[in-house]
Amino acid sequence: MKGDIGVIGLAVMGQNLILNMNDHGYKVVAHNRTAEKVDEFLQGPAKGTNIVGAYSLQELVDKLESPRKIMLMVRAGDVVDSFIDKLVPLLDKGDIIIDGGNTNFPDTNRRVAALKEKGIHFIGSGVSGGEEGARFGPSIMPGGSPEAWPFVKPIFQAISAKTENNEPCCDWVGNDGAGHFVKMVHNGIEYGDMQLITEAYQFMKDGLGMTHNEMQSVFIEWNKTELNSYLVEITSDILGYKDTDGEPLVEKILDTAGQKGTGKWTGINALDMGIPLTLITESVFARCLSSLKDQRVEAEELFGKKESIVEGDKQVWIEALRQALLASKIISYAQGFMLMREASNENGWDLNYGNVALMWRGGCIIRSAFLSNIRDAYDIDPELSFLGSDSYFKGILENSMSAWRKVAAKSMEVGIPMPSMTSALTFLDGYTTARLPANLLQAQRDYFGAHTYERVDKPKGEFFHTNWTGKGGDVSSTTYNS
Ligand code: 6PG
Repeated sequence: MKGDIGVIGLAVMGQNLILNMNDHGYKVVAHNRTAEKVDEFLQGPAKGTNIVGAYSLQELVDKLESPRKIMLMVRAGDVVDSFIDKLVPLLDKGDIIIDGGNTNFPDTNRRVAALKEKGIHFIGSGVSGGEEGARFGPSIMPGGSPEAWPFVKPIFQAISAKTENNEPCCDWVGNDGAGHFVKMVHNGIEYGDMQLITEAYQFMKDGLGMTHNEMQSVFIEWNKTELNSYLVEITSDILGYKDTDGEPLVEKILDTAGQKGTGKWTGINALDMGIPLTLITESVFARCLSSLKDQRVEAEELFGKKESIVEGDKQVWIEALRQALLASKIISYAQGFMLMREASNENGWDLNYGNVALMWRGGCIIRSAFLSNIRDAYDIDPELSFLGSDSYFKGILENSMSAWRKVAAKSMEVGIPMPSMTSALTFLDGYTTARLPANLLQAQRDYFGAHTYERVDKPKGEFFHTNWTGKGGDVSSTTYNS
């Protein structure tokens, strides 16, 4: 009997996905560039299963049933191209290559188009959930050649996480790089969620002077509210974790955040498309700022250490902080969905936002109860332009507003940096202001560069120039928007 699917790349994610597929009754052919890795896997975790090995790409191809489905679980970038180049001459028309790495979506756009010319189908799929997700049910976000989906669907939906109603956290996202795009936004949102949690932690630790056990209890309680999520849950575990000397391990960890680039891509993409994705972008910058450790240490000496004491009823502040976190999280998701909407329109992907929320409901790093409410919002209005306008989310934003403002103002007053929570509030203030001061900005542009402006008392699209100084002349520059 030939194999149902081949997987290339036997690092932890690849191995765990294979074992997961095997658990669901699929015969998997496993390959790795170094043959010893194949042997180690077959004699180790894969022992006693139906998994078979392949020591060359030709052997892998020969052992698969048609149309062949070959999933790459290798490092994103050139390695993917190099495997594609080697595989293509061995494949038949109609065969399917799947890239399950964290690939930047323009690469997937390019690969789908290039392989289409050769008659090979290509799927670029986001896979989220880390090692455990891969082993027992990840969130899977596939996009690319739609013709390939019916062949891959049963396997992917079988191995994916399921919601509380047993719906698979995996569905077809859209053409081209849509799957990898949605995974990129997932990761951007992951950056935002993590940053918001760290801001709440710093407020509690430095502002309210709370112990780690106290903070752990707060996160345990928060996890029973609308904030119920994987990231809140692991935060409570982390805060309670003691090093061998009995002290909280978290305080011994160097405060410089790493990043592999997906958050940065999300921010760059938002700038490219003109979407005000402020919270996620602030989260990326917060990681960048954290990495300037030596400079920060010097600057603290230079400017003096801040006394960030927050006075008042601790319990009242904790509840205010919870509301500020929840409201900011709504803004973060609202901005992320705005970005997806713009990309969908621009690329003709026809994204189904309710389905995206469903795919993120389980298995992935940002899984949370909250995503069910997002799905409901898009069920009610599939074209919702701002998540915060949905009645459920609008209600939370309105109810949290006063607490959110208090936390933001206090953080500024005592000098606790909370870039994401404060920028989220500023975004909402801007988004809900019918008249912003951009009229003055337009006047400035016209003053120094004759860039022209539109008038509130004339139809849109009619451009005016004023000779502000009487010296500049009446010639205007060409009008275009980037
Ligand atoms: C997931 C994660 C994963 C990502 C890590 C690390 O969905 O399982 O998003 O894909 O690689 O979270 O990302 P950073 O190193 O950029 O923090």
